[in-house]
Amino acid sequence: MKRPPSGIAPVIKVRPDAPTSLFRQVYEGYHKAILDGNLRGGQRVLSTRALAQELGISRMPVLNAYAQLLAEGYFESRVGSGTIISSSLPERIAKQPRTISRPKRARQGQKRTSKRCWNLPSAQDFFRSRGFGPFAVSQIGFDNFPQRLWNRLVTRQSRNTTVRSFDYGDPMGLLELRERIAEHLHISRGVKCDAQQIIIVSGSQQALDLTTRVLLDPGDHVWMEHPGYTFARSVFTHNGCCVVPVKVDAEGLNVEAGIKKCPKARAVLVTPSHQYPLGVTMSASRRLQLLDWAESNDCWIIEDDYDGEYRYEGMPVTSLQGLDKTSSVVYIGTFSKVLFPSLRLGYLVVPEDLVERFLAARFAFDICPPTFSQAVLADFIGEGHFVRHIRRMRAIYAERRDVLLENIREHFGTAVEIAGYETGMHLSILLREISDHEISARAARQNLWLSPLSPSYMKHAPRQGFILGFGSTSVQQMPAAIRKFRELVRSV
Ligand SMILES: Cc1ncc(COP(=O)(O)O)c(C=O)c1O
Repeated sequence: MKRPPSGIAPVIKVRPDAPTSLFRQVYEGYHKAILDGNLRGGQRVLSTRALAQELGISRMPVLNAYAQLLAEGYFESRVGSGTIISSSLPERIAKQPRTISRPKRARQGQKRTSKRCWNLPSAQDFFRSRGFGPFAVSQIGFDNFPQRLWNRLVTRQSRNTTVRSFDYGDPMGLLELRERIAEHLHISRGVKCDAQQIIIVSGSQQALDLTTRVLLDPGDHVWMEHPGYTFARSVFTHNGCCVVPVKVDAEGLNVEAGIKKCPKARAVLVTPSHQYPLGVTMSASRRLQLLDWAESNDCWIIEDDYDGEYRYEGMPVTSLQGLDKTSSVVYIGTFSKVLFPSLRLGYLVVPEDLVERFLAARFAFDICPPTFSQAVLADFIGEGHFVRHIRRMRAIYAERRDVLLENIREHFGTAVEIAGYETGMHLSILLREISDHEISARAARQNLWLSPLSPSYMKHAPRQGFILGFGSTSVQQMPAAIRKFRELVRSV
C-alpha cells in the first residue's frame, strides 16, 4: 500500500517540457508560494523523495532546489521533523495581497520617496517632447562629426588597454586630459588655471550639482538669470537652495536688480558668453560689477560656459573666470556642444583652495569618471583634431545661422524679435500674442521642434517665443521648416 506523503501537499507544479529547468521550477514554485503567503512559517514541507515522486520527476532537481531554499533562508532544517518553512519569516508576508493595483502602487511610491524628488520635472515628459529634426535645441551637427576618426581613436585606445585600465581611475580625471583642457582653455577662453584645478565630470549638469553640494547649504539663496536654464534650477532647488530670479536685459544679468532683490545671496549662476536662453553676451561693465559684488560679499560666481567657443561676430569673448582676481569664480565647461552630448564629459575649473573639498565630494558621490572615454578625448585634443573640428564646425554653424536669420526675416518680417544669434547653436525668437506651448505642441506633431521660451521663466512669463536650435538643421531644411513654422503661427 502506498504511504501517504509526510508534510504539506505541494503548491507547485512542474512541466518537464518547459524551457525553465526542473530545479528552477521547483525553487520558484516554493519561493512564490511563500512570498504570496500560501505557505506559512513553521509548516512542514514534503521530503525531497516524496515531492519527486509526487511530481513524477527525478530527485536531483528537488534536492538542489531545497538546498537553494535552505541557503537563502526560506526553508529550515529541523532534526527529527525534516524540512519546514522557515519560522523566522515575518508573518506579514502571509497577509500581503497577491497583487497591488497600479494607481495604489504609484501612490505608495509617492509616500515612500522624498518630498523634494516630486518637485523634479519629469524626464519622460522631457524626452517625449524632444525630437530629432529641425530646430531641436541641444543637438549638434551630427552628420559633420568626424565619426571615422573618432572610431579609429577608440579602436587604438582599446588596443592599448592594460590590466591597470580596469582599476578605479583618478577622481580628478585623467591627468593627460586635464593638461590638454587647461592648455586649450587658456588659449581659447582666457581661463587662468592649471591641470590641478580641473576636475573631469559627466557634463555641466554634474558639475553644477557638485558645485552646489560643495559651496551651498540648504536655505542658501542663489541668483539665477531670469529667464534661465531650467535644468540648473532643479539642481539648486533639489539641494534645498532658494532660487532668486534676477532679470536679464541687453547687457546680461542685471547685477543691481539682484542686489536690490536679495543682497545676501551666496552665489549666482551665469551664462555670460551666451545667456541661456536669450543669447545676450554679458557686457564688460556687468562682468566687473558682478566680480566686485562677489568679492565684497564673499559670494561665488558659477560660470556656465556651455557654447562660448562658437562665436560668429568677432573673437570669442574671454571668460569671466579670466577676469577674476579673487578666486570667486567656479568655471563649468562641457563637451556636449563642441563634440557630442552622449560623450557625457565636462569639467570644472575650481579655485586652488577649493580643490580638496570638491574632490572629497566627487569621491563621495561617484568616485571617479570613466577612464576610457577620457583617454580617447585626450588623444583627440592632443593630436589637434579638437581645434580643427571647432574651426570647421564654426563655419558650418555660421552658415546655418545666416540662412536661418534670412528665412526668419523673409517670412516673419518685423513681427518677431530675434535675439542671441552672435554665439552658439541656438537663437531665440520673441513673438507677441501667442501661446508658445500651444504652437510648440502642434509643431511637434509635424516633426518641427520649437522649444517654448516661457518655461525658462520661473512664474509668470512676460515674453512668449521659441528657442530655435540650428546645430542639426541643415541649410537645405531651413526654408521649408521656417515656412511650416510661419503657417503654424498664422493658424493659431
Ligand atoms: C545653459 C546650458 N548649460 C549646459 C548645457 C550642457 O549640459 P551638459 O553638459 O550636462 O550636457 C546646456 C545644454 O543644452 C545648456 O543649455
